[in-house]
Amino acid sequence: MTGPSVRDRLDRPLRDLRISVTDRCNFRCTYCMPREIYGADHVFLPRSALLSFDEIARVAGIAVALGVSKIRLTGGEPLMRKELEGLVGLLAGLRTLQGGPVDLAMTTNGALLARKAQALADAGLNRVTVSLDALDDALFRRMSDSDFTPRAVLDGIAAAARAGLGPVKVNMVVRKGMNDHQILPMVRHFRGSGHILRFIEFMDVGQTNGWRMDEVMTGAQIRDLIDAEYPLTSVAPHEPGEVATRWAYADGAGEIGLITSVSQPFCGNCTRMRLSPEGRLFTCLFADHGHDLRALLRTGADDEALRARMGGVWVTRTDRYSELRGQVHRDHKVEMSYIGG
Ligand code: GTP
Ligand code: 5AD
Ligand code: SF4
Ligand code: SF4
Repeated sequence: MTGPSVRDRLDRPLRDLRISVTDRCNFRCTYCMPREIYGADHVFLPRSALLSFDEIARVAGIAVALGVSKIRLTGGEPLMRKELEGLVGLLAGLRTLQGGPVDLAMTTNGALLARKAQALADAGLNRVTVSLDALDDALFRRMSDSDFTPRAVLDGIAAAARAGLGPVKVNMVVRKGMNDHQILPMVRHFRGSGHILRFIEFMDVGQTNGWRMDEVMTGAQIRDLIDAEYPLTSVAPHEPGEVATRWAYADGAGEIGLITSVSQPFCGNCTRMRLSPEGRLFTCLFADHGHDLRALLRTGADDEALRARMGGVWVTRTDRYSELRGQVHRDHKVEMSYIGG
């Protein structure tokens, strides 16, 4: 199928599909899955509710026919889904409308990556992004509310780079008063490593993370802190719609990224559609409802019907939550652990 990408009401093309493969995670980050809510008695989605790999691949194929050229696997923690490399293998052969390969990436907390990186690369994964909020052992355990160590995540990053999944991007969510003192240690650790460290402003996703504006350290503040020790110069974006603004170390030790969804929203270029683990499409990270595809998938709908449904969801899209933050109130925002970052 050829033709231009579908465009939404604000004239934004569909370019990215972010697929959440599970709502489970082996961490309990306090800002994402606080244990008071995601404790032993929390009910996760039953296996039968999850889309199968074949169902996900079918949706992805149609998304590509509608213009998607980048696919990212997320969770929860995507490596909690058994044999994820099987799904990677199904997606790796997809071709964009222009005929090139689809860019296939994954966002992971890294804890299981050391043992999985090679199999994922062999199956056709191109890149990984790994979350890491602190190098300090005790703080890492406190923020992730888990018994994993930063060492396990660093081993995962190294294994990914060895397997050819680089340049590895490392995402650090900065929560003021919690881990901002880890910014410079992280900078020193990753400078010159070939990995790209990115700082994410703490966001008001979901209903459970207790977000407060005074816990947000802005991208500009982060940049100034780093620049005072390691001078930075601005780098032009690779492509429109990139979430991170890029900065290079003046001494040539590589680059960093700043993701400023709170202080400088980037909705104007937002080309991302999200697929939930049980087959709902969301047109914004802060959406309060999704559009079900699973019923269509499981009642024998043909590709044309699926394409009409998915294209229809995109063409009516008007989302720009981050630009309207403070002016709109949402009571039922989808959780990050369900829809991925
Ligand atoms: P590449 O540029 O392909 O490497 O991917 P990316 O920059 O989209 O990377 P990633 O998925 O790691 O996104 C980084 C983080 O930015 C996510 O974990 C989210 O916290 C945030 N983010 C990504 N997309 C959006 C979005 O559409 N809206 C908002 N508000 N935040 C986003
Ligand atoms: N604000 C900013 N980033 C967040 N993430 C999870 N919750 C939040 C939040 N409230 C990050 C994770 C991971 C990515 C999927 O999103 O730490 O890097
Ligand atoms: Fe798990 Fe990522 Fe949420 Fe942490 S932020 S609990 S690693 S899904
Ligand atoms: Fe896109 Fe919604 Fe994020 Fe804005 S807030 S960039 S519309 S996902």
